[in-house]
Amino acid sequence: MSFTVAVDGPAGAGKSTIAKAVAKRLGMIYVDTGSMYRAMALFMVRKGVDLQDTESIAENCEDVDITIRYEDGVQVVYLNGENVNALLRTEAVGNAASAVSAVGAVRKKLVWLQQKLASESDCIMDGRDIGTCVLPNADRKIYLTASSDVRAKRRYEELTAKGETCDLAKIKADIEERDYRDMHREISPLKKAEDAILLDSSDLTIEEVIDAMIRICSDKDGAPKA
Ligand code: DC
Repeated sequence: MSFTVAVDGPAGAGKSTIAKAVAKRLGMIYVDTGSMYRAMALFMVRKGVDLQDTESIAENCEDVDITIRYEDGVQVVYLNGENVNALLRTEAVGNAASAVSAVGAVRKKLVWLQQKLASESDCIMDGRDIGTCVLPNADRKIYLTASSDVRAKRRYEELTAKGETCDLAKIKADIEERDYRDMHREISPLKKAEDAILLDSSDLTIEEVIDAMIRICSDKDGAPKA
């Protein structure tokens, strides 16, 4: 049976950076479920589907085939056969993903794919509903969070480093709006699983969070050792 770690938390808490590093150190695969919702959103945006129209999203989602492959240890997302990795990380696709992810038919399709991946390999999977819904029996559950001020500042620095002009207050407002949507939707809202360990990264460096997570993953018999 595979060893699974569920990492949930709000946008910008550092889940993907941390989970990717921990997976590498522990020799597990990293499954980024947000990118699956982003690929679904990209399909809807390209097709001009109204993102307020849940019925239309549900209907169109039947035409979407999302496949995950690991190439040189990196997760590659194929949308109807096209490698879309480079197109998924924009703010526009992230916001569209938040809307698309509230639709039951979308979640049903992607949760099935996520559970299949987890049954095949030892993995660290990050998202919003991994500990509560996708892998309720995960071997370890972590809820990684940080204040919205800290998350907005990190995002601002990331974008500025890429040479993009951006506004800190707007980024913070977007983050808080996305948190609200993700936490208040009807299906699988973002929330800490009762048995998840809370890890607040607001005052920690990336290395400190990675170490904390590795300790959590390795503290019982049968867990992978770094
Ligand atoms: O983690 P991310 O920013 O790449 O996720 C994009 C959106 O997808 C996010 O707003 C919420 C949604 N999502 C979800 O509902 N469930 C998941 N397991 C992962 C992401």
